[in-house]
Amino acid sequence: MREPLVAPSILSADFARLADEVGRIAAADWVHVDVMDGHFVPNLTIGPPVVEAVAAASPLPVDCHLMVADVDRWAVRYAEAGAWGVTIHAEASAAPVRTARELRAAGARAGVALRPATPFEPFADLLPEFDMVLVMSVEPGFGGQEFLDVVLPKLRRVRRAVDDVDLDVRVQVDGGVSESTIARCAEAGADVFVAGSAVYGAEDATAAIGRLRALATEHAHR
Ligand code: DX5
Ligand code: ZN
Repeated sequence: MREPLVAPSILSADFARLADEVGRIAAADWVHVDVMDGHFVPNLTIGPPVVEAVAAASPLPVDCHLMVADVDRWAVRYAEAGAWGVTIHAEASAAPVRTARELRAAGARAGVALRPATPFEPFADLLPEFDMVLVMSVEPGFGGQEFLDVVLPKLRRVRRAVDDVDLDVRVQVDGGVSESTIARCAEAGADVFVAGSAVYGAEDATAAIGRLRALATEHAHR
């Protein structure tokens, strides 16, 4: 098991002051950028030009979570915009292997994301094509939702599958991760923790990141 990574989501940041808001989370490991298109999810956020601006302003690697329809068509644009990692939704991709290869060829790390009702098993044989599996612990679309415990068994199955193949694949959990839910996620096998409201809603983001990391380390799956 590798050291836990904390990736605050700027979805809960002040979009009018993005550079400052990215600066507020310098103690984190990655900055998580939620891209929503108003089709795949009922919310609309940002696109490649803003990702490019965030990547230029951020000292941290940009972890781009694409919640967009027809993602095979758009994914590489985000790698070109400077994202360090690009995660595509399984449900939105007709050709996940091809898209993952395009992302890697463009120099980005490729991730695959699963909505709460999407099974992991069809992707087990595809693990060598990916650098990360993102298990959604809310229905994607909005920050500040309640964590769904029902995804914990899937998180455990993903962890087991990743350990079995012995590849450098991260297991990310996203949605409702906070000081009261992160221990469960870590115990189940997550090693990258996205937290939007728990970090940006805190008075002191640095302290919140530190507490999340400490809890994830203390409860790390073994
Ligand atoms: C939801 C997004 C999450 C979200 C997390 O669709 O993918 O990244 O912003 O926010 P919290 O931590 O507030 O649930
Ligand atoms: Zn996300």
